[in-house]
Amino acid sequence: MNDIEKRVEQIAQEKESSFLETFRWLHRHPEKSLEEKETTAFIRQRLSDLGIELIPPFLETGAVGLLKGGKEGPCIALRCDIDALPVTEQSTCPFPSEHEGFMHACGHDTHVASLLCSAEILSELREEICGSVKFIFQPAEEINTGAISYISAGVLENPQVSACFSFHNSPEVPVGSVAVLPGPIMAGLHNIGIEITGQGGHGGIPHRNTDPVVAAAALIQSLQTVVSRNVSPTRAAVVSICSIQTDNGMVCNVIPEKVSMRGTVRYYSYEDKDLINRRIREISQGIGDAYGCKIEYSTFADLPITSNEPLPGQRSLYDVALKTVEGIGARAVCPDPSGGGDDFSHYALGTDNKPGVPSFFYWLGVRNDEKDCVYSWHSPHYQADPAAVVIGAKLFALSAFNAAEVF
Ligand code: NI
Repeated sequence: MNDIEKRVEQIAQEKESSFLETFRWLHRHPEKSLEEKETTAFIRQRLSDLGIELIPPFLETGAVGLLKGGKEGPCIALRCDIDALPVTEQSTCPFPSEHEGFMHACGHDTHVASLLCSAEILSELREEICGSVKFIFQPAEEINTGAISYISAGVLENPQVSACFSFHNSPEVPVGSVAVLPGPIMAGLHNIGIEITGQGGHGGIPHRNTDPVVAAAALIQSLQTVVSRNVSPTRAAVVSICSIQTDNGMVCNVIPEKVSMRGTVRYYSYEDKDLINRRIREISQGIGDAYGCKIEYSTFADLPITSNEPLPGQRSLYDVALKTVEGIGARAVCPDPSGGGDDFSHYALGTDNKPGVPSFFYWLGVRNDEKDCVYSWHSPHYQADPAAVVIGAKLFALSAFNAAEVF
């Protein structure tokens, strides 16, 4: 352990009980996307108490703090998301949600607590910091608008950020371990809409109509071949049809005019994204022709791949990340990427009006079978092992130190 690693560890141990208290408060006060008002007030108060300057962008919710170090150097950003979900908590957590109908079912409370606690650690080590650390408490991750809003509003500028780190908790990874993946870690995705139009009529006289329900059944079956027959077997992708609705309600004897379907596509390369879209269009066209229906395909809610593979011209942060995980005494693991998405992808890619920066995304292990911390994200039974907060705080703090050495 080098000197900084020792001091980060020592401060984290000293403050462990207050770190856990911070986590408990956040867990009890979940708020949905763009309504994170109490959470925002809590964060801003904590940053002010630490003497960390609140800086723009000032959006309605969320907060950005800047800690200036005692030495010259780059600005390293540490980002978390702060929103919760409209899910009623059913977990065995001893300090459950106090906001009826809402819970931190994606564990963003762990993220906020870790970043606030890393701010406590780093403010004690302020004189040792080369450059500055920007703390980004981003709202509205669950609705995929927060990152774009913040980046478009200039969160990566003034001072210009050289590198950005973030993590998501993972109930698949045991507490004490941190996932460090060199490539994609969260899927790229978009949702899909399919409208099938036929000619409705009497269910007992089908030969006088054009049945879109039969076309829908054929289409759902055929779409299963996109991943199994078109995407390379060495790569992963998902095509899921999740909802299907006719325009005639639950009647027994009327063939509808129209069937609507909604679903989602997940991928880990943009080549596969294009391939999947092309095949869905071709199959839709073919099934439409075969069954005499019009089939329209559309995509929406596009979210890029969250990948630790640097973009052309960006420095890889993989070695910094690995050194950091080893430096905090955690176990570095390399599980499969997730089919979930995260809008952290925009920090590397940028937005329409702003460039991105070199970025790295970890998974912080929060699984603990003995404490019933085993359920997946968005489950009403989800909970994280609170012990992960101290690890998350050290992970953020040491990432800032280690990254400052290479920029
Ligand atoms: Ni999440």
